[in-house]
Amino acid sequence: MDDSMINILVTGAKGQLGSEMRAVDHKLQRYYFTDSAELDITDYSSLTSFVEKNKIDVIVNCAAYTNVDKAQDEPEQADAINHKAVKAMAQICAQHSIFLIQISTDYVFDGTVNTPYKETDETRPLGIYGQTKRDGEVAVEQSGIDYLIIRTSWLYSRFGHNFVKTIGRLSSEKEQLKVVFDQVGTPTNAADLARFIVYIIDNDIYRDKKGLYHFSNEGVCSWYDFAWEIVSQSQTQCKVEPCHSGEYPTKVTRPHYSVLDKTKLKSDFNYRIPYWKDSLHDCIKKINNKH
Ligand SMILES: NC(=O)c1ccc[n+]([C@@H]2O[C@H](COP(=O)([O-])OP(=O)(O)OC[C@H]3O[C@@H](n4cnc5c(N)ncnc54)[C@H](OP(=O)(O)O)[C@@H]3O)[C@@H](O)[C@H]2O)c1
Repeated sequence: MDDSMINILVTGAKGQLGSEMRAVDHKLQRYYFTDSAELDITDYSSLTSFVEKNKIDVIVNCAAYTNVDKAQDEPEQADAINHKAVKAMAQICAQHSIFLIQISTDYVFDGTVNTPYKETDETRPLGIYGQTKRDGEVAVEQSGIDYLIIRTSWLYSRFGHNFVKTIGRLSSEKEQLKVVFDQVGTPTNAADLARFIVYIIDNDIYRDKKGLYHFSNEGVCSWYDFAWEIVSQSQTQCKVEPCHSGEYPTKVTRPHYSVLDKTKLKSDFNYRIPYWKDSLHDCIKKINNKH
């Protein structure tokens, strides 16, 4: 065993981001990937035993309750995973000098602005999911540990269920799709975020850059534009029509504008982030090649 290697625990490893983390080439450090069946993050004693046994130095918490609408009906479960477990995880990190990389969301904002959100902007979540994720952020911020909180938006991946796969499938089954054009944000290929996280860990450039950061792909679009581009790149014949959110009522109102400003991250880490259409192209290519 190479003693210069550090030990990294990635939770939620069968989710979109966790799966992409696993797929990144990482030879420089020792990674442990766990999902809910192996390590339930709400189980304090299992988490403590795991970090002690494996001498964990960094936790990348990709585990979360991510069903935005269902969270309205299951607020306690969403709070247990997105807030209480994160608070307890931060306590364990404090006891064992572990650096925590916590993933959060653009849904901490209410979307009533029309310029990209900075890390310093006020949060005002519109639903239980966003509120519990914000409560998780606050718990980390108040814990006194060394941490990075990375907010991201509109995550998709070749792994799991997501908008890219749904639109890809529907566009081959239907002649026309209607998609909302009054919610604007930035899609993020989870592979790009995973690469960034592994890059900062492997190059040891995270420890002196603590705090809150925004990460999404570059550019701005509506869900309609996103769907249009998926259909175009998938080369199906389906027509995509714009519609208002009111035509498809959901349990939770989504922010009308949730573009994240990434200036701080790009400058502090001297990092170049790919444009959303290029990243979408990479993902569709991988889906078509069956990974
Ligand atoms: N998806 C998006 O559009 C989006 C947008 C912005 C931010 N984010 C944030 O990005 C992060 C990653 O999201 P994602 O899209 O990769 O999520 P995801 O695909 O839904 O994966 C979440 C993973 O967490 C696991 N998990 C749930 N409860 C757990 C528990 N108690 N213990 C251990 N693991 C548990 C799930 O396992 P099971 O399936 O077995 O429950 C699943 O594998 C999350 O923090 C999310 O809030 C996501």
